[in-house]
Amino acid sequence: MTRFVITGTGSSVPPRRVSNAALSEKMDTSDEWIRSHTGIAARHMADESCATSDLAVEAARAALEKASPGAPLAEAARAVDVIVVATATPDYQGCPSTACLVQHALGAVNAAALDLAAGCTGFVYGLETAAGLLAVGPGRARALVIGAETLTRFLDWGDRSVSVLFGDGAGAVVLDKVSAAEDGRAASPRGLLRSLLRADGSGAQDLIFRRGGSRAPFRAGETLEKGMHLSMNGRAVYTFAVKALCETIEALLAAERLSHERLAWIVPHQANARIVQAAAKRLGIPEEKFFLNIADYANTSAASIPLALDELNRSGRLHPGDLILSAGFGAGLTYGGNLIEW
Ligand code: ACO
Repeated sequence: MTRFVITGTGSSVPPRRVSNAALSEKMDTSDEWIRSHTGIAARHMADESCATSDLAVEAARAALEKASPGAPLAEAARAVDVIVVATATPDYQGCPSTACLVQHALGAVNAAALDLAAGCTGFVYGLETAAGLLAVGPGRARALVIGAETLTRFLDWGDRSVSVLFGDGAGAVVLDKVSAAEDGRAASPRGLLRSLLRADGSGAQDLIFRRGGSRAPFRAGETLEKGMHLSMNGRAVYTFAVKALCETIEALLAAERLSHERLAWIVPHQANARIVQAAAKRLGIPEEKFFLNIADYANTSAASIPLALDELNRSGRLHPGDLILSAGFGAGLTYGGNLIEW
């Protein structure tokens, strides 16, 4: 049986760390409010010189080094057949894709490159998309799946209920196709077992960049009151997110006839610790099973799940055979998850 196995993880955040206390010096908020309502303590923010592709490239290089230890990076990059970049904050609007910029910077001269727009569920969608592209292409063996964002550049800093929630960063994984013929190792992980990908476009207006697209393009000569920014209906997203997390976890476990006790980790999208706590309570799953690093990074959208996976991996908390369930939800609205044997 052909398997799709994560063989390396990497991540990157901009060096500038901004605490809640630092934010509260510039706007009407407080460390106490942000922590108690979201679990966030700090976020990393990109400086002007850093775009989404810069973070994506750093995360991808780190993942390639993990997947091919000791190999020259140029060689590892040439072995990549597919690059998927999940992002809501591409370097450029529409074209070129951020994935093409990453492809060039890495020297991945043999790779197809595409962006994927599924909001904060982008990495979950990206993993399944990459596995599909590897599956149908006989000559394809290795994919890079990257979630990368610079959302702090697209926030209305006058809207405290949205702007305190987000941070910048990127996470990446190397996904290798292992065919039955070359897979003699009995203990080889089964890799990506199953994904659930869902969408509910009726909630499209709840998380949205209203301006800049074909529906409402910027016009020559117009004066903008605010820069392009993310608008959010926080209450509606909260309710959706708890339901989406529960449905994703229940559906993936049921499809594989598993109980949650079999899972080593649930890696949820890191949007708000309270969303995770509410879902854990509703599902009767101990909170400790959910990996949370939102305190340090805030919501990094499509980057949050691969950033969390990399932190788990590098800190030695993932072991061969562990079952991991990722669960995302976000703009679209979209939601879904991946069940992975490590
Ligand atoms: N600092 C201080 N006070 C604040 C802040 C802030 N940063 N933001 C809001 N408040 C105030 C409000 O003004 C309000 O005050 P009032 O009662 O005097 O009017 C009070 O706090 C409560 O506001 P609510 O909006 O009711 O706060 P709530 O407890 O619902 O929390 C939050 C708001 C955190 C945004 C919550 O609705 C939420 O988490 N929603 C989901 C957000 C999310 O997950 N988004 C992203 C998901 S998808 C993706 O990642 C792109």
